[in-house]
Amino acid sequence: CNAYLIVDGNHRILMDPGSTVHHFPQVKRRVEQIVPPESITHIVVHHQDADLCDSLPSWLELAPELTIVTTPRVRVLLPYFGFSPDVKWLDVSPEDSTTLDLAGGSLVFITSPFLHFPEAFVTYDEASGILFSSDIGAAIENDWKLVITDWESHWRTMIPFHVFYMASNKALNGFLKKLEPFPISAICPQHGSIIPEEHVDKAIENLAKLPCGLDLLYPASNIESVLAEIL
Ligand SMILES: [Fe+2]
Ligand SMILES: [Fe+2]
Repeated sequence: CNAYLIVDGNHRILMDPGSTVHHFPQVKRRVEQIVPPESITHIVVHHQDADLCDSLPSWLELAPELTIVTTPRVRVLLPYFGFSPDVKWLDVSPEDSTTLDLAGGSLVFITSPFLHFPEAFVTYDEASGILFSSDIGAAIENDWKLVITDWESHWRTMIPFHVFYMASNKALNGFLKKLEPFPISAICPQHGSIIPEEHVDKAIENLAKLPCGLDLLYPASNIESVLAEIL
């Protein structure tokens, strides 16, 4: 799991901080190298999978005043990890109008319906052009590198993850269309290597063509092509 920290003025924003058992001690140690963990102001939770956020109670213990940034449908589920819902929240609108204004530029929160949770979302950092994409663009690799070097071999590790987790090609394309206004300098996913600028266009192009999820489970009927041949 990749957790990311943005430090900008008084804002200290942690994204998808990981699980308690598997990640919390290490993520806390890495945060400590940059800022005191007690000073975290926001935690962005892109969806509610335990691997990316069941450490929320531990972070809230350290920094009870922090704000959790997430969508309403994720918000109702998060307290089941073991904390009171009576904490600070910033609700991410399904209209993609929610931003967090930082000194260097805003964070823009963009929903990614059914990729893979119904109200999942991603974060775009205007200052750096980085897209924090959660499970979109993720890969399960045996040979992890921080930044990918060879696109073709990396793409092969992205395919199985997207085929099994993402709802459909329609869902992927709808989301990718929403990204068009944003110049992307890198894609930082929650699993696998960072996709640098030189491979961003290729990643988007390949994802746009990938059949996945329901496309493969319930392939479309070929009735139209059969009729076209008969008539
Ligand atoms: Fe996930
Ligand atoms: Fe994930």
